[in-house]
Amino acid sequence: MTPVTLITGASAGIGTELARVFAAHGHELVLVARREDRLMALADEIAASGRPRPMVLAADLGQPGAAASIAGELASRGLEPDYVVNNAGFGLTGAAAELSRDEQLAMIDLNVRVLTELSLMFVDSLARHRGGILNLASVAAFLPGPGMAVYYAGKAYVLSFSEALHHELAGRGIRVTALCPGPVPTEFQARSGMELPAASKIIELPPDRVAQIGYDGLMRGKRVVVAGTGNRIAVFLMRFVPHALLLRAVAQRSSAARE
Ligand SMILES: NC(=O)c1ccc[n+]([C@@H]2O[C@H](COP(=O)([O-])OP(=O)(O)OC[C@H]3O[C@@H](n4cnc5c(N)ncnc54)[C@H](OP(=O)(O)O)[C@@H]3O)[C@@H](O)[C@H]2O)c1
Repeated sequence: MTPVTLITGASAGIGTELARVFAAHGHELVLVARREDRLMALADEIAASGRPRPMVLAADLGQPGAAASIAGELASRGLEPDYVVNNAGFGLTGAAAELSRDEQLAMIDLNVRVLTELSLMFVDSLARHRGGILNLASVAAFLPGPGMAVYYAGKAYVLSFSEALHHELAGRGIRVTALCPGPVPTEFQARSGMELPAASKIIELPPDRVAQIGYDGLMRGKRVVVAGTGNRIAVFLMRFVPHALLLRAVAQRSSAARE
């Protein structure tokens, strides 16, 4: 079986940049997202740079059975993952009781359930190739987030799950890294119904930088990678701030960020 790096959410933002970084380091790729035209254009670009042409799998990961059909597609072509990059995800801004429950549950499906399924589905082939899993968490994983409550809680799950998996799978030679970016200007903000506040500029990082930091952290076998010095300082300081104050600060930031 030929080893491939499976990247979800490769049609935009951090996922597109992760595909470019993995390709530049010689990995053969399978790109997954709903927008096939974007994935095709990225595959063309990577092929034009002299790298193997990535395989494109247009799929809505929110649909039941999506992960199993990806596994079936790979097996039928003699491919198996050596790396899995769980990047696809979205946020929703607003009070949890006022936002659509269905949309919030769909967010849990994609950001949490599918990430869990794809993290566990290929463990044997990841072990065979001594590869790894890169899971997109967030700085949001380190605190509760009034104004984006379900999103923050989902990212806390991703962080906790990935750290535990890092420990469990280390003995099988599999690296597991939780990548925790702070604000990154991508389509994420429009999809979430927010704008990055001007104050975010200090800690904002471009998606290509975040992708490179994530790749380097995974290859070094890091358990958790917080992207950027400003974000690392913020995460460190959060430990010393009383939760009540943190909650108030996040709530104010969320309502300022709402369009
Ligand atoms: N941007 C930030 O500030 C930030 C900060 C911390 C963490 N993150 C995390 O980083 C990850 C990537 O975010 P981003 O900023 O790059 O967002 P983005 O630009 O909106 O890209 C999201 C990607 O997910 C894919 N996706 C969404 N729903 C999908 C579905 N149902 N099935 C398959 N693919 C789906 C999208 O592709 P299609 O629409 O083509 O399906 C797109 O490729 C997310 O997990 C996000 O939570 C982002």
